[in-house]
Amino acid sequence: MRILILHGPNLNLLGTRQPEIYGRWTLAEINDMLIEQAHKTNTELRIMQSNHEGALLDAIHDARLWGQGILINPGALTHTSYALRDAIAAVGLPTVEVHLSNIHAREEFRRQSLIAPVCVGQISGFGWRSYRLGLAALLDHLLE
Ligand code: DQA
Repeated sequence: MRILILHGPNLNLLGTRQPEIYGRWTLAEINDMLIEQAHKTNTELRIMQSNHEGALLDAIHDARLWGQGILINPGALTHTSYALRDAIAAVGLPTVEVHLSNIHAREEFRRQSLIAPVCVGQISGFGWRSYRLGLAALLDHLLE
């Protein structure tokens, strides 16, 4: 199984970015945890972070040529990007959306995800564990 892991804008700053909201794990630590989890389940990950919407779209388009699923934390693009939503719908790869914080318990503008309707599901609010739960849920879904 090959999975694309996508981290959107500002997630490169994890560890120092508002740790009271997003926790103290760096992105590298989250990625290492995912790689270890994937290793145990014979899964190959390709991991990318970008602050640029177009780069994320290109990675999603590419994944249709090699991948079976996508795990994505779209960051603030969750709430704004029709293009990201369309890309996920266009490639048709099963996608799980994850958030470190509980977006439904925060500001009004964060409560709507434009991405969720084209995803298998959404995991939100468990800090770095959202990624672990998200990957497990995606793999379970794909193996069914
Ligand atoms: C986030 C939530 C978004 O609202 C925010 O813009 C982020 C991070 C999260 O993981 O909790 O950048 O996706």
